[in-house]
Amino acid sequence: MRGIILSGGLATRLRPCTKITSKQLLPVYNRPMIYYPLNTLIKAGIKEILIIVAPERAGDYLNLLGSGKEFGVKFTYEIQDKPTGIAEAFLIGENFIDQDDVTLILGDNIFEDDLSEEIKNFKAGAKVFAKKVHDPERFGVVKFNGNMRAEKIIEKPKEWISDYAVTGLYIYDNKVVEISKNLKPSDRGELEITDVNKVYLEKGELEVAVVENEWIDAGTFDSLLRAQILAKEKLQDKLLI
Ligand code: G1P
Repeated sequence: MRGIILSGGLATRLRPCTKITSKQLLPVYNRPMIYYPLNTLIKAGIKEILIIVAPERAGDYLNLLGSGKEFGVKFTYEIQDKPTGIAEAFLIGENFIDQDDVTLILGDNIFEDDLSEEIKNFKAGAKVFAKKVHDPERFGVVKFNGNMRAEKIIEKPKEWISDYAVTGLYIYDNKVVEISKNLKPSDRGELEITDVNKVYLEKGELEVAVVENEWIDAGTFDSLLRAQILAKEKLQDKLLI
């Protein structure tokens, strides 16, 4: 299993804080934001981690994180020239992924749950994680049938279909690279991770687990504030780095 952290974009919603550095390097209580998703991967025993960053911010990441030796892992860096979608990570990361399975986590996603076992026990297909939220229109959304099997998945639905947001942690087998190569950009000009998940869903190979505890996409000032409080009150004794 290889790991990718997608940490690109210029986060204009968090201006002026992101005028000089990346959103994912802003402090979340006593650590840079990216340390939290890094913990998720390192705890799962992943040793090879690709960090994908925006060109304007690449130096900041190298200065902060270096080779990974300090954390007992190896970091590789790649550039995402423009924020043209999460699924692009599998094209940028094709050589890095090689023949392996891959776990992708977004650099601004913070989980209270320990998902190490889910990552370690992954066999094939795709596994993603959902969480009930009050603002599903901000996210990819999954609708479950009566047996809690995913039956529909839509990116930022205009009409309500479900309260379950798909979180920014995705585990895939090696097919994800070919699937991503066949995607067409969406109306917002992005290679959508939701379209990758739809392909696995149609094959009957998409598993969706519900996360029990808190999950935060720290991409707005309000969610960043909630992330700070979660980090201080609940995460401190669970972090390896
Ligand atoms: C992205 C994905 C969305 C997912 C969310 C999780 O949203 O497109 O499916 O629910 O991350 O953080 P975006 O950051 O592009 O708004």
